[in-house]
Amino acid sequence: MAVLVEGGVVAGLWPESTFDPWQALGAVEVGRGGVMTPGLVDCHSHLVYAGNRAGEFEQRLEGASYADIARAGGGILSTVRATRAASEDELLAQALPRLQALLADGVTTVEIKSGYGLTLADELKMLRVARRLGELLPVRVLTTLLGAHALPPEFAADSDGYIELVCEQMIPAAAAEGLVDAVDVFCESIAFSPAQTARVFQAAQRHGLRVKVHAEQLSNQSASALAASYGALSADHLEFLDEAGVQAMAEAGTVATLLPGAFHCLRETQLPPIELLRRYGVPMALASDANPGTSPICFPTLLLNLACTLFRLTPREALAGMTAHGAQALGLPELGRIAVGAPADLCLWDIQQPAELAYAVQPGRLRQRIYQGRISYHKEDAPHGC
Ligand code: NIG
Ligand code: FE
Repeated sequence: MAVLVEGGVVAGLWPESTFDPWQALGAVEVGRGGVMTPGLVDCHSHLVYAGNRAGEFEQRLEGASYADIARAGGGILSTVRATRAASEDELLAQALPRLQALLADGVTTVEIKSGYGLTLADELKMLRVARRLGELLPVRVLTTLLGAHALPPEFAADSDGYIELVCEQMIPAAAAEGLVDAVDVFCESIAFSPAQTARVFQAAQRHGLRVKVHAEQLSNQSASALAASYGALSADHLEFLDEAGVQAMAEAGTVATLLPGAFHCLRETQLPPIELLRRYGVPMALASDANPGTSPICFPTLLLNLACTLFRLTPREALAGMTAHGAQALGLPELGRIAVGAPADLCLWDIQQPAELAYAVQPGRLRQRIYQGRISYHKEDAPHGC
């Protein structure tokens, strides 16, 4: 096939002028063999943070749960301490290699959340770093304010007071400075209640921002249905999602973002209701959730594999999750597909059929990455064989 790119967008496709996105995801054979896909869209990440939590990984292997560690002041709050202590430049330096790893495996659009600052200044600092990452590297960065990620120690006895700070100071300031594209909340027994989540959603909407939610990860709080009632872009995690939640999401057009990296690293056993999501026609996005606690994984095609092996997605569903459906979860439906008029974000892979992307776990298969019509990565011919 041939793709004509002009001014950063796809201007022509041959032999057909338009492609069904699934066909475009499929066998677009090129030159000397290989597969072309849309650039990958990672619609849920926490790439900006300081430090790491390898110690907690070991604690969990010895039997402590993620929730136990969080209640004891570790978990997210341990990354908050490190992130508050880091300067903007230090955060940038630590986040860069993570983002480079995503790009080297085909990502052309990534969402980056705040949520490890939990003060006005530190949340804005994180968002600024996320914006700077998008200026430094050839990738589209969408930013999300996740001020309501955990209760900071200084508000330990006043969780509503903290929500007030998120609603009355963080959201307005981040919106006024143009630092934020959406607002997220961690709605969970160890984080914020549905009532508090609703307050944050209302504040976001007052500032014209779309919402999304970390929902039903550890328990069913009906957070997905709540988010759907606010027209949420996506509800993410969803291991404990029930049928009423699925139905609410289907009716609202809210995308289900699956995060198999967190499921894998926490050694979860409760599977998200994939069959129900299929039955109700809820689009399933797939993302890295790259973060220091539950998913220290910056390897998108590994996540395709995990989505298939752990959640039984088909390779095609997994790829759609990291392209068209990921884009839909960001409110950017023109991305994640190869079509005339769409931004020319394309990946050319050294594989023979699309399913191989999810089948094998192998870095280095990206031959060429095109971002907004420009070749931003080109691998020299790899030696044949392994
Ligand atoms: O998506 N669940 C809440 N937030 C992140 C984890 C953050 C962390 O543990 O640092 C998640 O899994
Ligand atoms: Fe997350």
